[in-house]
Amino acid sequence: MITKITVAEARSADFIGQSVQLSGWVRTRRDSKAGFSFVELNDGTSFGNVQIIVPQSLSNYETIIKSVTPGSSILVEGIVKKSPAQGQLTEVEASLIELIGESDAATYPLQKKGHSLEFLRSIAHLRVRTNTFGAVARIRNTVSYSIHRFFQQNNFIYVHTPIITASDCEGAGQMFRVTTLDIENPPRDNNGKVDYSKDFFAKSSYLTVSGQLNVETYCIGLSKVYTFGPTFRAENSNTSRHAAEFWMVEPEIAFCELPENMNWAEKFLKHLITDVLVERREDIEFFNKTDSTLLDTLNQVVESNFIRLSYTDAVSILEKSGKKFDYNVRWGIDLQSEHERFLTEEHFKCPVILYDYPRTIKPFYMRLNDDGKTVRAMDVLVPKVGEIIGGSEREYRIDILEERMNDQKLDKESYNWYIDLRRYGTVPHSGFGLGLERALMFITGIGNIRDVLPFPRTPGNCDY
Ligand code: 4AD
Ligand code: MG
Repeated sequence: MITKITVAEARSADFIGQSVQLSGWVRTRRDSKAGFSFVELNDGTSFGNVQIIVPQSLSNYETIIKSVTPGSSILVEGIVKKSPAQGQLTEVEASLIELIGESDAATYPLQKKGHSLEFLRSIAHLRVRTNTFGAVARIRNTVSYSIHRFFQQNNFIYVHTPIITASDCEGAGQMFRVTTLDIENPPRDNNGKVDYSKDFFAKSSYLTVSGQLNVETYCIGLSKVYTFGPTFRAENSNTSRHAAEFWMVEPEIAFCELPENMNWAEKFLKHLITDVLVERREDIEFFNKTDSTLLDTLNQVVESNFIRLSYTDAVSILEKSGKKFDYNVRWGIDLQSEHERFLTEEHFKCPVILYDYPRTIKPFYMRLNDDGKTVRAMDVLVPKVGEIIGGSEREYRIDILEERMNDQKLDKESYNWYIDLRRYGTVPHSGFGLGLERALMFITGIGNIRDVLPFPRTPGNCDY
């Protein structure tokens, strides 16, 4: 009986002595004078390859072996043996090998020499076959599953919030318009303006920047909820940390004030890292070779207590630091990444939760503090990435919410449903958003968001 197994299984002790069948893509082939070829095979199920020993005595050896080149796909049958070689537990001695798909060695873009991440971005359809991108894909999968596991274990209900929306949650005006109008020749009103009442939804509509406002409605009824999906921001900042399409997970918790919200955020982040350290050890050890502080940092984050610090205190630390920043610091500014990174990387050397930001730089929905100047916002900052989580306690007092909406010149009519939540059974509630890609950058040490998204969308780039 032949068992069909994966490369990950073939590398474990579980199948030693058994007849197996496995398939995958060839990483390398080496022909020895002793009557064998050694093929390194990978199918993406684990970081490492399994070594296949192909004896020259196989009947089709001569006809196919020269085509068993990097990138080609093969099927192998044979016996899993304990390997005498160092650094691998097992190898597979082939009794049959078939070439499934050739890969022209002269043109295959992934040569044995390492490639730069920039080059690999230009072949995003093939880069998953490299060590780095295979590892990123597996870790991305593990983190996504771990997100669900955390919330499910803690009795949160998963809610699917819409992708197309009419409201600008963050109020930053960074939305992609969704329209079926003919943009070459749109209908116009009497003033010559484009008439969006003729559009598909009979009004302006956009891709969502956040599922928060919708998920709040389910929170006020289901108590603990989360949404997890793609979000879109037409931010024209071409940085290594911003993508136009990214995934965000947003829990929302009823009967919960800001300190408890911070507890959730801290526990959640530690849970994700712990899961990756246990389940993707080999992948993380690989990334630790590029950035030798990675494992220490991750372990330290799991064990540390995050520093909690008010925005006001953070500003005074920055002012007293004597450090020259590109953007000057004074109370009231939106902190830049250089300020955030100074606090978490240099000053505290651990994750920091900043809270109570100036009301003027935060969206309308955040709860106003009694000082009238600050709101109950919180940002979680981590070394090398800066802001990884943004959240707040929500304004649940109807009069103040309406004032804030007036301040920010929002059209209250269109948010009537949101205000209803404060009319009928309002409760203190809080939530936050974790950017999946920011989390992956932190966990892998990869410095550019374009390398943790399978097909990144950034200004000027919408390939594939
Ligand atoms: O701080 P943000 O804008 O918060 C919200 O959207 C809230 N509605 C969340 C909530 O309270 N439910 O975004 C949350 C997180 C950021 O901390 C960051 O990790 C990520 O989303 N993020 C981005 N990630 C990649 N590219 C971008 N352009 C991002 N913008 C935000
Ligand atoms: Mg933010």
